[in-house]
Amino acid sequence: MQILDGKIVSQAVKDALKIKTEALKNSGKKTPHLAAILIGNNGASETYVASKVKSCEEVGFKSSFIRLPDTVNESDLVAAIEQLNKDEDIDGILVQLPLPKQISEAKIINVINPDKDVDGFHPMSVGKMVQGLPTFIPATPYGILLMLQHYNIETKGKHAVVIGRSNIVGRPMSILLSRNTYPGNCTVTICHSHTQQLKEICLQADIIVAALGIPGFLKAEMVKENAVVIDVGITRVADETKKSGFAIKGDVDFINVAPKSSYITPVPGGVGLMTIAALLINTYNACEQKSL
Ligand code: GUN
Repeated sequence: MQILDGKIVSQAVKDALKIKTEALKNSGKKTPHLAAILIGNNGASETYVASKVKSCEEVGFKSSFIRLPDTVNESDLVAAIEQLNKDEDIDGILVQLPLPKQISEAKIINVINPDKDVDGFHPMSVGKMVQGLPTFIPATPYGILLMLQHYNIETKGKHAVVIGRSNIVGRPMSILLSRNTYPGNCTVTICHSHTQQLKEICLQADIIVAALGIPGFLKAEMVKENAVVIDVGITRVADETKKSGFAIKGDVDFINVAPKSSYITPVPGGVGLMTIAALLINTYNACEQKSL
């Protein structure tokens, strides 16, 4: 069993980006600039956005952090995004999800200029991804592809089982793993809350991506010997032994699944770090495209 180490792979991505960013600046081009909008006071979202902004600094990008109250109305949020769309210094726009109830996620994602859609959530980006055209790929599935690539994990002809069908992870992951490229060429099964015989399907998987958000859901008896196990879960669970009062738990019962797997991502220290690395690549590409 080998750990897929998000710390090592994300650091390699960041080191390479830092050098490329320095080179951009030295050649008189603009510095990549990410704008992140955070609405309300969701603790997990605060942590994620803070990490994204900090990572921008680490690689020499500019970042702008826009905080709006939980009570913000849709038209004020639209106005804030349109401002960023117009701002020529901003290369990438990220609206941290989930959004408060009064705001339509679909409507907000539609307002983001597709050229600045570094999350890859705009229907234009999703459509291009489905057609295999160059575009921004959503950061979590993109980060997982980078991880598979870094460890040279064979994907061609493998049966990949993706658990979860969210627009952020499960659905794009299933499409990307089926593409005619590397990593890809998998036979993909996408499972969700209505899937019957989930255990039997999981037992057929050479690669399992667990992205359902239920801590410890994937048990050892659901995993074939030598499967590649990718854990996307990052649920906060109360833990009085931690200073923060909570621990981060993945969707995989790591202790029991790890000995059966060929490769496995830990939580924390796995996919979460890769998500940020992939977002940085998208932001760099958004900037470079503009500098052409
Ligand atoms: N919420 C959970 N994951 C993500 C992500 O990748 N991007 C955004 N914008 N919000 C998220």
